Amino acid sequence: MKKLVISVLTVGIIILFSYCSSSKKTVAAPLTYETNIMAIVGEKCAPCHIPEKGGRAKPLNTYEAVRKNIDNIIRRIQLSPEEKGFMPFKHDKLSDSTIAVFTQWKTDGLREK
Ligand code: HEC
Repeated sequence: MKKLVISVLTVGIIILFSYCSSSKKTVAAPLTYETNIMAIVGEKCAPCHIPEKGGRAKPLNTYEAVRKNIDNIIRRIQLSPEEKGFMPFKHDKLSDSTIAVFTQWKTDGLREK
């Protein structure tokens, strides 16, 4: 009986430790414009929002522009493709994980770097 209690405790402690160390790993560093956002906008919102690529829609090619428009950006990328204002215009909807990068960036405080 004592042995059983000890093994149950041991297993419990192992589970607890692995839970703690794995939950630490998921506490990721805050997202930043330069690391997480710039490349997505440069790929998914080009050429329309990138003046140097000939885009004539509102420029979203700088940190300031994306930061200032973030609420509008998040609203539009969450629409369905058939809804008015959907972005990226005439393209497939962004994946849930890509949309989550924008919302997480906002939650993390809209950092530049
Ligand atoms: C094929 C061209 C095209 C692509 C790609 C595109 N857009 Fe747009 N976007 C437009 C046009 C044209 C407008 C202006 C018409 C309107 O407001 O719907 C616009 C407007 C917007 C606006 C409103 C700007 C304002 O006037 O305040 C936002 C925000 C926006 N787009 C975000 C995005 C984001 C984010 C992406 C990439 C994920 C993207 N768009 C991809 C063409 C595009």
